[in-house]
Amino acid sequence: TKTNAHHIAVIPDDGIGKEVVPEGLRVLKTVSEKFDCAFAFDHFDFASCDYYLKHGQMMPDDWKALLGDHDAIFFGAVGWPDTVPDHISLWGSLIQFRREFDQYVNLRAARLMPGVSSPLANRGPGDIDFMIVRENTEGEYSSIGGKIFPGTEREVVMQETVMTRTGVDRILRFAFDLAQRREKKHLTSATKSNGISITMPYWDERVEAMAANFPDVRWDKYHIDILAAHFVQHPDWFDVVVASNLFGDILSDLGPACTGTIGIAPAGNINPEREFPSLFEPVHGSAPDIAGHGIANPVEQIWAAAMMLDHLGERDAAAAVVSAIEAVLAEPQYRTPDLGGPAKTSECTEAICRALRDIG
Ligand code: NAI
Ligand code: MG
Repeated sequence: TKTNAHHIAVIPDDGIGKEVVPEGLRVLKTVSEKFDCAFAFDHFDFASCDYYLKHGQMMPDDWKALLGDHDAIFFGAVGWPDTVPDHISLWGSLIQFRREFDQYVNLRAARLMPGVSSPLANRGPGDIDFMIVRENTEGEYSSIGGKIFPGTEREVVMQETVMTRTGVDRILRFAFDLAQRREKKHLTSATKSNGISITMPYWDERVEAMAANFPDVRWDKYHIDILAAHFVQHPDWFDVVVASNLFGDILSDLGPACTGTIGIAPAGNINPEREFPSLFEPVHGSAPDIAGHGIANPVEQIWAAAMMLDHLGERDAAAAVVSAIEAVLAEPQYRTPDLGGPAKTSECTEAICRALRDIG
């Protein structure tokens, strides 16, 4: 018997979010039939532009209470620029979750999948498979600074990088812990201690201190400039890459771009202490240009479900979903039009559910 269901808040939002989120749920249903786990889904219609048009705000005032007790948030894509300006829809929803739920880890996957052509020559499935762990609350993106004597010859502009021991150590602990759970047990730290001579040596110092707690994790570090070059020339060197807010922002687009999958690899916004729910989402938006046609690629939302399963401790199920995605993308007839295939959204999902049932 299945006890302890995972409580998931489901927020499809706008456009193709409403089409791909149900596909992710179908896969989770298949997971619950095959693996020893159960889910309880609560569906919410807020954090959408339709809600905004009715209520004049993106979310109800008590959204934090409504969502706070869930184990995770399964999020689609928010935004419908024809009716609501993007800064209102984004800041009124996703940004609130990230901040108020202290989701200080931004996790991105970079894995080369069959059927997706990598812009890097001579790389095939299996050659690229790593995770990027970005610090998401402090570092270079601080609001400490200012401008004095604006518009004069004496104009001065400053913005400070803020690194706290709490903030640095908690992101490093998450990254080392992730590396320890993976087969290669290898962590790479992004630094720039030669140029940024106060905060980055501090970051390096904390990496070294944290590494002592994870003796079985092999680790190294590179300055951000050569690290960016290595992503392109030697993507097979990496397993888990941890970085400050700014470096992580850049690497978490560069990594997936190297796998040709900026539209396929999902993101996790994670509070590892589980004080608050973590949020799992595709990186793509609501795609107004194809919304309503049933041709959106559901893979990124389904992969987001896999990342969520991993966070919930359902590691075997998570790995099985990623393998099922991989098996299906290898078959041209199940690819959606954005990947050059003929499949409808639902046909791609059905194939993934079938592959999942067949695994193991
Ligand atoms: P977008 O990602 O929605 O679309 C860019 C292009 O990629 C479009 O041609 C679209 O058809 C295609 N595309 C995206 N996802 C796809 C999928 N699953 N299958 C097939 N094709 C796909 O980005 P865009 O057009 O800049 O933004 C549209 C709206 O989405 C805006 O309101 C924007 O603010 C919002 N947005 C929301 C995000 C979020 O919720 N995290 C992230 C990015 C954008
Ligand atoms: Mg970015």
